[in-house]
Amino acid sequence: MTEQTATLPAAAHTGGDIANTRKVFIKTYGCQMNVYDSVRMGDALASEGYVTTDAMEEADLVLLNTCHIREKAAEKVYSALGRLREMKKERRANGGELMIGVAGCVAQAEGEEILRRAPAVDVVIGPQTYHRLPQALRRARSGERVIETDYAVEDKFEHLPKTDKAQIRARGVTAFLTVQEGCDKFCTFCVVPYTRGSEISRPLSQIIDEAQRLVDAGVREITLLGQNVNAWHGAGPNGESWGLGDLLYRLAEIRGLARLRYTTSHPRDMDDRLIEAHRDLRALMPYLHLPVQAGSDRILKAMNRRHTGEEYLRLIERIRSARPDIALSGDFIVGFPGETDADFEDTLRLVETVRYAQAFSFKYSTRPGTPGADLGSQVADAVKAERLERLQALLLRQQHEFAEACIGRTIDILLEKPGRMPGQLIGRSPWLQSVNVDAASSQIGDIISVRIVGTGPNSLFAERIER
Ligand code: SAH
Ligand code: SF4
Ligand code: F3S
Repeated sequence: MTEQTATLPAAAHTGGDIANTRKVFIKTYGCQMNVYDSVRMGDALASEGYVTTDAMEEADLVLLNTCHIREKAAEKVYSALGRLREMKKERRANGGELMIGVAGCVAQAEGEEILRRAPAVDVVIGPQTYHRLPQALRRARSGERVIETDYAVEDKFEHLPKTDKAQIRARGVTAFLTVQEGCDKFCTFCVVPYTRGSEISRPLSQIIDEAQRLVDAGVREITLLGQNVNAWHGAGPNGESWGLGDLLYRLAEIRGLARLRYTTSHPRDMDDRLIEAHRDLRALMPYLHLPVQAGSDRILKAMNRRHTGEEYLRLIERIRSARPDIALSGDFIVGFPGETDADFEDTLRLVETVRYAQAFSFKYSTRPGTPGADLGSQVADAVKAERLERLQALLLRQQHEFAEACIGRTIDILLEKPGRMPGQLIGRSPWLQSVNVDAASSQIGDIISVRIVGTGPNSLFAERIER
């Protein structure tokens, strides 16, 4: 999954006495799944009378939805908490109050430690327990420092209020929908199985209801989310066993839902049905994020990825023969313990063979509690830095080549939001690129045909085609 830092857009006010409503500022770190969770925490808080704000200064509650994936991500949280402590002090000096909550994967991984290191924090709440946020805040208001990080036995989604339609509309024409959570793969570098718990799939009916609700509120594109989204499984309408491919066929039947995507997939769970879905479904966008992490079989084994480089390449061939225009994206880690120059060359070779449209690459970061942390032969930081630079140069070149190859092509884009200039909108290509085009804001949500005429550093430029 791609990492990002984002704040939740302010809620559309749906009436009520604004002056007396409490305001929450939610800051989101980490992957798309956290972005989705922030929305749902906003829902839980709305039922407590909170509205979301994008101005931290006016918030009564600041909630950090955190990420633990690499050391740097986790550190960011403590520096943010340092600043919030000052803010709380100032508030109190002026007779006011500020509540501070830590949610997400750092909350799950560090629990008590956060309360110890950051005395200003009132609530620590994990990714599987945030439906209990309203109660936790009530307890905190009566002076308790609350920690809620056990893996709840109840299904949080059953306990969360549904997102208000006005809120969905305010967030735009694309939406995330978590269908699967947690991970049982235990790659030796990764904290996710510990922060998110074991793999669970949301039931079919819950997913269909939520998708329909999004579409009824004007959403045109849904991205299904999961740490291992292609491990999703459930019972079909007649009790038969369904996988993600079957789910996609079903969702593609929803009228008005123009586009489907899913992320993140594990190569081991790319089954035939899912590949067929890429062949058959017009709504399923030709873009696949399929991380491989490394190209050397020795390192893949040490990472516990449970496939070889060759198996990954063969899988890519099968996917490409089902959907020749598919764009591939990946994640890479350089400097896993024991990685030699020759191992790293294998990664470069694999990248040369695949030709990625997009990719994310990281220096290996030792995570406490993972098997990788106990391995000897950790790679020196300078070596990691040099490898990362070489890999990123190659990946960037491929990304540019992919964008250049779009010039002159006629494609459909989904108009998403206002562009940089008045009279311009930003649309999304089937391959997830941002496309700048002249269009009126009343057209947001439309899918239009354009010809790509140029490329910028992170986006494409297009001209409209009259049909
Ligand atoms: N479930 C996804 C990955 C989720 S984490 C999958 O299996 O592909 C997102 C990415 O962060 C990973 O793909 C990996 O490239 C990177 N990552 C995870 N742990 C890391 C670590 N300890 N150091 C550096 N990068 C890491
Ligand atoms: Fe982490 Fe591996 Fe699970 Fe992905 S598959 S979340 S990298 S343990
Ligand atoms: Fe980070 Fe947790 Fe996502 S560790 S990448 S926020 S699952």
